[in-house]
Amino acid sequence: MTHPEPLNLAEALASFDEVYSPRIVTSVNDYEVRIAHTLGEHVWHEHTDTDEFFLVLAGTFDIALRDASGAERTVHLGEGDTFVVPKGVEHKPSSTGGSILMFEPTGTLTTGDVAADDVPDHVDSTSGHRL
Ligand code: NI
Repeated sequence: MTHPEPLNLAEALASFDEVYSPRIVTSVNDYEVRIAHTLGEHVWHEHTDTDEFFLVLAGTFDIALRDASGAERTVHLGEGDTFVVPKGVEHKPSSTGGSILMFEPTGTLTTGDVAADDVPDHVDSTSGHRL
């Protein structure tokens, strides 16, 4: 899904309110650019087949990471910061409020490998919605 006209991210973000419910801005070959509002705790998950790129557009965005030994660390991101979660690494985003841009293969689920029953109500398990 590509747009024939320029698209403004601030206007796109203002067009919806849902938190952790990404909208698809455009596609680039077999990848998508998605944007989302962030607030509160996401859910621990991993993406077994793909890295996941984040750019913080506004506010704060922390990503807790758990390595294969179970050790955890958290990266703290602010506006303009970028980070890539490698494939297969468990992670849990959290935010005091803000917005992010993600770049990942079309079809990537926001909740990765997590069973539907284990996804909290405030987190949308989706591969992205149209704007
Ligand atoms: Ni993820």
